Amino acid sequence: MTGIAIHKPVMPKEVLEYLDIRPGLVYVDGTLGGAGHSSMILEKLGSTGHLYSFDQDQSAIDLHQDKANSIENWTLINKNFAEINNHFLSHGLKITGGLLLDLGLSSIQLDNPERGFSFNSDSELDMRLNPEGDIKAQDIVNKYKEKEIADIIFEFGEERRSREIAREIIAKRPFHNCKELGDLIKNIYARRSNGKTFKVHPATKTFQALRIAVNMELDVLKQVLNLDPDVFETGSRIVVISFHSLEDRIVKNFFRDFKQGNNGIKLEILTKKPLLASEEELEYNMRSRSAKLRAAVVYKK
Ligand SMILES: C[S@@+](CC[C@H](N)C(=O)[O-])C[C@H]1O[C@@H](n2cnc3c(N)ncnc32)[C@H](O)[C@@H]1O
Repeated sequence: MTGIAIHKPVMPKEVLEYLDIRPGLVYVDGTLGGAGHSSMILEKLGSTGHLYSFDQDQSAIDLHQDKANSIENWTLINKNFAEINNHFLSHGLKITGGLLLDLGLSSIQLDNPERGFSFNSDSELDMRLNPEGDIKAQDIVNKYKEKEIADIIFEFGEERRSREIAREIIAKRPFHNCKELGDLIKNIYARRSNGKTFKVHPATKTFQALRIAVNMELDVLKQVLNLDPDVFETGSRIVVISFHSLEDRIVKNFFRDFKQGNNGIKLEILTKKPLLASEEELEYNMRSRSAKLRAAVVYKK
């Protein structure tokens, strides 16, 4: 392995198969994270072609910059993947091999209590994937109107108790840390459950919703999937791994629209249904359990 893979890459064999790494071509990893996938791509590319790895989190870039400095055909870019099209256009670059997106957050971010992603942490409710971003989760829960909070929790968390949770948030705010909010939601569920225990933390959906809102995750996904024919060459591959139904629906719909031909690009879809992780992988990587992989080949019309 070329990088420091602290985060276990999801569906590694499938990613390599569907990206179809061919020497000499240009690939983009839009979500560097722990560099698990980037390392595998580089290993297959050898000293030919080029890999550009994006991450909006400077700390992910910092973790791999020394290594990247020693590999001539690996460039790290601290930008949101929504900017890939513009970055490539403005630098006169083309994606000839393929683009990989492994959405969401890495174990490195999740396991760092200070980033504010975990229910039991006494750190502030931050949840920014880009630590320079304007809005933290605590701005939403402490400042937004009740209806806005309820809508975010319902739309991005598909949480059926969204209105009740929003009402209690307004009554109990301000919140100073993750645990206070996690406990509030746990209490709402506990009151309604007659002592039943929960396999999944009751705040999971609300935390997901806040994270999506803070990072505008659905908007940036739509932006990067708006494939530009001046950036993607015929034969290049698109591989997207998503972790919840809202993201997967966006990928599926974009693929369907581009299959008919759109904006000078036609996609051949390689995965009629999304691929799931194998039983074998689930045994060593729990994070894979909700992963869905979709892949396509680009043709220019
Ligand atoms: C699931 S991890 C990727 C793990 C990586 N594939 C690996 O094998 O180690 C997602 C990473 O992408 C980054 N990320 C998420 N959304 C992003 C976006 N819109 N633009 C750039 N980076 C993003 C996160 O900061 C995180 O480091």
